[in-house]
Amino acid sequence: MGYTPEMKELIKRVEATRPARLERARRGENYPALTLEERAVVLEKFHPDYQKEGRRPVRTGADKGLVLPEEVASMLESRSMLRPENVDLSHADFETDVLIIGGGGAGTSAALLAADAGVRVIMTTKLRHGDANTMMAEGGIQAAVQEADSPYYHYMDTIGGGHFTNQPDLVAALAHDAPLSIAWLESLGMMFNKFPDGRLMSRHFGGSSRKRMNSAGDMTGAEIMRVLRDEARNRGDQITILEFTPAVELILDEDGKCAGAILYNMETREFFIAKAKATIIATGGNGRLHIKGFACTNHYGATMDGVVLAYRAGVGTTCLFSTQYHPTGVAYPEQNVGLLITEKVRGLGAHVLNIDGEQFCFPLEPRDVESAELIKEAIEVGKAVLTPTGRYGLWLDSPMIDMLHGEGTVRRELPAKFIQFERHGIDISKEPMLVYPTLHYQNGGIAINADCETSIPGLYSAGECTGGLHGENRLMGNSLQDVITFGRRSGVAAAKYVKNGVELKKLTLDHVVKYEKELAEAGIENPMVAPILLPDYSTDEVAARRLLEVQGKLEAE
Ligand code: FUM
Repeated sequence: MGYTPEMKELIKRVEATRPARLERARRGENYPALTLEERAVVLEKFHPDYQKEGRRPVRTGADKGLVLPEEVASMLESRSMLRPENVDLSHADFETDVLIIGGGGAGTSAALLAADAGVRVIMTTKLRHGDANTMMAEGGIQAAVQEADSPYYHYMDTIGGGHFTNQPDLVAALAHDAPLSIAWLESLGMMFNKFPDGRLMSRHFGGSSRKRMNSAGDMTGAEIMRVLRDEARNRGDQITILEFTPAVELILDEDGKCAGAILYNMETREFFIAKAKATIIATGGNGRLHIKGFACTNHYGATMDGVVLAYRAGVGTTCLFSTQYHPTGVAYPEQNVGLLITEKVRGLGAHVLNIDGEQFCFPLEPRDVESAELIKEAIEVGKAVLTPTGRYGLWLDSPMIDMLHGEGTVRRELPAKFIQFERHGIDISKEPMLVYPTLHYQNGGIAINADCETSIPGLYSAGECTGGLHGENRLMGNSLQDVITFGRRSGVAAAKYVKNGVELKKLTLDHVVKYEKELAEAGIENPMVAPILLPDYSTDEVAARRLLEVQGKLEAE
């Protein structure tokens, strides 16, 4: 298929400006970065998070009054799948020391570290083990491993990127643990890109003051998930893995400690009671809520489940109002719309250009600023390309990469992206890509401390479902580092809590009853049922029928 004849004509404008741009790039010159004041202006006017429409205060729960995206607020104001009075909590189908909800990078790291500490672990996952945003992550993982770098600079860049709204203890933990995470992943067999002398090939990224991005081609997350999953599966004597079995409600004991969760088998539609001395929520993000109608980069199960469960049990959130839109999602071909084009493409020198082949922004601004710049160029300046289906697209000049670093660099450094476009007749080492911001990451979430403790004893959380680490804007590569650092920390902390002795009292779902009473008192009629588990792309009529079916089934339980 490839580009249409009209698009091919437009690419000639990109090619016309390329020699001069390459010349400047070789001299180390680039389009000037914005000042802090200029960043604030463009964010205010063009970033979706800064616009009032589509946002409102949540009416119930620990964060009542907090202004959130409509999609997120409705999810928090939801009712349970279960009718608590019909659930028999006097028995347990599963019993363990540590229950981990979520089988991505954070959950699997937690499972491994808890098992190392000698406790029994059950890890339960909604889809297959490893179906997670970790698997989808492309460009790299941050860690200060080069001589010119240190955890100090990692800390400072992260706080600056987050507009100084980050939770300092979490950032300090991340910057400190990051080099250890890399050593741990290597010990599990991870294959990083390296120089011939064995040093890690670290690169720059948006918002970095040092080269700190460590990668495995453009499949860094898949490579991480490969080694984590292998290790967890090799330790079947310590770690039980339940696939297609999401948690749909937390269980507390009558003292208010977390005591496990109700699980739902998606194949048989049965419910199970999993009793646990400690529980870790590691359920990932909310991209599939398609906030403000944006396409997304996320895996199919990214529906904010863990935040819903914790919130209903009384745990507050940090920075949940903040959403990350990655500047470069695919805008064409239509089959790939929204998919991630890694920031590594810009890290390798590719320019972002308008319809006339002109640079209009520094390519490595922090992500929120870069996305706002692209939206401005499309909407206000009016210099975006329109795709055949009417989408905006701006050029990402990937052929510059081979010209700057030598032929074959695109295929070597970006093999997945190369194949993904080649399938549609586009050779990204020779033709630029069309991009537009795409919903990428849930910046905020469940409130935790640096030991991943929540406000409920025995309940821990790690990874994208948590908030505070990234403040209001995450830098590239801090998500993969987040899942490893805090996955590991949560496993250690939960195991320690269990080993200190936990006595569970009578199990209850009273928090669910209480929350639903609050919904009624707030006048919220017919709240949605959540966690939704999977996004619904069917028509309203089909969706309504399915909802009734689920509710009918559950009320009969
Ligand atoms: O651009 C990227 O490769 C994305 C990485 C990240 O979100 O950390």
